[in-house]
Order: sequence, then structure tokens, then C-alpha cells
Amino acid sequence: MPAIKCVGILTSGGDAPGMNAAIRAVTRAAIFNKIRVKGIYRGYKGMITDEIEEFHTQNVSNIIQRGGTILKTARCAEFKTPEGRKQAYDKLKEHGVDSLVVIGGDGSLSGARVFAEEYNLPIVGLPGTIDNDLYGTDVTIGYDTALNTIMECVDKIRDTATSHERLFFIEVMGRDAGFLALNGAIASGAEAAIIPEISLEKDQLAEMIETGFRKSKNSSIVLVAESDVTGGAMGVAERVKKEYPQFDVRVSILGHLQRGGSPTAQDRILATRMGIAAIDALLDGQRNVMIGIQKDEIVNVPFSKAIKNDKPINKDLLRALCISSI
Ligand code: F6P
Repeated sequence: MPAIKCVGILTSGGDAPGMNAAIRAVTRAAIFNKIRVKGIYRGYKGMITDEIEEFHTQNVSNIIQRGGTILKTARCAEFKTPEGRKQAYDKLKEHGVDSLVVIGGDGSLSGARVFAEEYNLPIVGLPGTIDNDLYGTDVTIGYDTALNTIMECVDKIRDTATSHERLFFIEVMGRDAGFLALNGAIASGAEAAIIPEISLEKDQLAEMIETGFRKSKNSSIVLVAESDVTGGAMGVAERVKKEYPQFDVRVSILGHLQRGGSPTAQDRILATRMGIAAIDALLDGQRNVMIGIQKDEIVNVPFSKAIKNDKPINKDLLRALCISSI
């Protein structure tokens, strides 16, 4: 197996707080191991459009605390075609890049997997997404920061919900996963969470709302995970308004503010550990794996597992929400 001499780094898909900390760690770990580093801008697109630049340790100074990604990000349709990937590979060769670290979510790692197999290119992925929906890792980079943002927002909404004695449905991101909604609900003391992993029959929803309002509370907050399965906060609120016209219902969609902000200490540390582990994995001859963390230990998860499997919701969290919200 030829030695790794020059690694390219890119961020792809939705940005997540902590991506900069990961870029910094990958760059410095590579330089520490005498491997050259090339920053690739705008995700996979930057390979095709030749936006590739040599990175030194100073390129990543003063970024650990910044949200977003200094490398920019994009969702690239061209890279989904064999022609686009050929152009990308040719550009990498021109720049002497012989391996890649891809930081992103499910879609980004799926692209990495195809590319790695097609060109026999060593690629290691880092799970960078607020959704926390990658199998094989307890948490993803950006998830903790987004969760804290949600908690702060819900705390604020509770002030007005209590004052007006209203029932609020707050929609949070997560694509098709309910981790942000469920843990956001526990952390903010919400009355319930509606998540795609748990199907909620109509009368269950009714019961939840009624008991919620009967609990001598003068307001209720329900977190709803965005998803076609849940119908989103708007969908749920419409149903409730029709059946319970007596409730003063409001909807709040937190949206992209959940993706921004300075990463928490936990995300910075996670990104740093994972970034270093990505270079360790490449040096160790590991190929086509995502770096994960399980019970505070770094693990290498084959792309095939990380992408294909659905990450299960921990039932203990459902119980914690039920008990803590009585
Ligand atoms: O995957 C991260 C995420 O923020 C999801 O939670 C959300 O569904 C999606 O990206 C939004 O994507 P975009 O920024 O392209 O609208």
C-alpha cells in the first residue's frame, strides 16, 4: 500500500458547528506526521472547479471557535455522475492529492464511498452534521451545539408561552431523525416530542395534549422533528387546532439558526479527537471508514455500515422524557 503523502480536506453538505475545529485538527495532525495538506473549497464541487489550495498550520489558526466552515460547503449534483467524479479525480491527481478526509453527513459520506471504490482512493470520513443520524457513532460533530441552541431558544419561547398560556409546537431540524427533538425536549423541559421514529396515532396525540394541559400547567411546549412522517409543527398544529379550538396554539420553526454559532467545548473536543483519528486511520492503512465515537472511545466504522443502517433512538431517552414531564 503506497504511503500517504498529501491529504485533501473538504466539508460537504449542511455545515455544522465544529467543522472548523475538525479542519484544524486534520491539518495539524497531517503536518505533525509530515503529510502535506490541501484545502478543497465548496465540497466536491471544488475538486471539479479546481478550488484547491495548499494548507499550512497558519491557515487553520484562530478558527476553532468559529461556526460554519472556512472551506465553504455545497451540495454538488455533478459529483453524482461518473463524468463529474472523473474530473474531480483528475484534478486531485494534478495537485498530488493521494487521500481525502471528507467532513459531512450521510449524503457526503455516500459520495465518498462511491468515489473511494471507483478510484481506489483512500478516504476517511468525519461525521459532521447537526442531525446526529450516522450509525456507528454515539454523537456527530455539531450535534451538541445545535442541541444547546435549541435549548436556549425553547427557554425563551417558554417565557412567552407561559405568559399567554399557550400551547406551542416548536419545529426542530434533524432531516428524518428525531435526536434533536427528543433530547431538545428533555433538556428544555418540554411536555413532549414528536419524532419520526415513533409513530404517533391521532388519539395518542390528543391524549398527550389533553393530559399536558390538564397537568395544572398553564402552557405546554411540544418539540416536533421536521419530517414528512411527523408532518412538521405546522401539520401537527393544524390537527390540534381543528380538534381543540379552545387551545391557543402557536407554531415556531427554529430553522437554520440551529446550524450556526460557536461550537460548544464538547463539539470542539470531539472534532479535534476525530480529526487526529482520521489521519491516524489513513496512516494505519484504514480505507473507506468513518471515524466514530462509542462510549468515549474512537472507532473506525466502515462507510457501508455508517450510511446504510438507521441509527436507533435510545428507548431510555423516551422514558426519561415521559417521566420528567408528568
Ligand atoms: O443535514 C443538516 C440539515 O440542517 C437538516 O437538519 C435539514 O433538514 C437540512 O440540513 C436543511 O438543508 P438546507 O440547508 O440545504 O436547506
